[in-house]
Amino acid sequence: SVEEMESRVKQIKQKFGQRLFIPGHHYQKDEVIQFADATGDSLQLAQVSAQNKAAEFIVFCGVHFMAETADILTNDDQKIILPDMRAGCSMADMADIDQTVRSWEILQRTFGDTILPLTYVNSTAAIKAFVGKNSGATVTSSNAKGMVEWAFTQKKRILFLPDQHLGRNTAFDLGVPLSQMAVWDPINDRLEFEGNNEDIKVILWKGHCSVHENFTVRNIEETREVNPDMNIIVHPECSREVVALSDYAGSTKYIIDMIEKAPKGSKWAIGTEMNLVKRLIDNNPDKEVVSLNPYMCPCLTMNRINLPHLLWTLEELDQGNVINQINVDETISNQAISALNKMLDKA
Ligand code: 13P
Ligand code: SF4
Repeated sequence: SVEEMESRVKQIKQKFGQRLFIPGHHYQKDEVIQFADATGDSLQLAQVSAQNKAAEFIVFCGVHFMAETADILTNDDQKIILPDMRAGCSMADMADIDQTVRSWEILQRTFGDTILPLTYVNSTAAIKAFVGKNSGATVTSSNAKGMVEWAFTQKKRILFLPDQHLGRNTAFDLGVPLSQMAVWDPINDRLEFEGNNEDIKVILWKGHCSVHENFTVRNIEETREVNPDMNIIVHPECSREVVALSDYAGSTKYIIDMIEKAPKGSKWAIGTEMNLVKRLIDNNPDKEVVSLNPYMCPCLTMNRINLPHLLWTLEELDQGNVINQINVDETISNQAISALNKMLDKA
């Protein structure tokens, strides 16, 4: 039963004490988040993993790229475990390393040494290593602005991987006009841009989040029509059109902070992952909180981490077996760390 599973998780956690650490991303289910030793967005979870020197086992409740990041940022003797190996991220999968190396060669031929690569942390360790090797940095949704500003002090142009929306929204907020942003289509090796290449400041990798693309202009129009006094707040992984029509846009942490400090009785339609929206609804009964898309929008891969999978990995640990370990290749890890540290140093 659920109660039995919960009590076993508690027992094992108690037995391991400080030797076991469970970080949980805000998009995780309640049944998992209740056991998290730290919750956070991707930046906060990278920070807590980097700071934790005591835990022998880090059972990461999030998706694959986050567990890889934790492995890169922790010591060699700390073991990172992902409760379900199928918990990936469709956006991270949109930038494959071979594709990226090939695209970079083509872009270098076109633009010479004028481009700095930046990657959203939602990318594989291999992509982070590629970016690190080429003097670039990682970014998360909560520090993207500062990192893009920094990038422009280094080079005339940036290549932003793998989320075109976060890249476009961030550059736009910094005053780069849409007419100076091109999209790189890595499937057809094609730059989508009308105009003179010399004018391009931002090259956006053609990737997106399959969860946040479900919040549409239509959803906003319908919300405004039915409920004109509703505040609309969305994650910057939503499209430019959606962000432009919203009242507020920001990272997971920004959204949580905004709802929590909002006045009693205020109304909010949120454009982000379902588990987080549900939790904000439950935790803010004095406000009217709904999902911007009435069908809610779950991240199916995040949802693969559930109580049975968490318990399974913990039971194995209790038997002395480390299963589902995430172990990033040492060379890749060493190159990726320079990209991650540039971000963490500025955070
Ligand atoms: P943040 O945690 O950086 O807000 O990113 C959201 C997300 O999509 C995580 O995968
Ligand atoms: Fe990836 Fe989007 Fe899920 Fe985040 S919400 S893990 S970006 S698919």
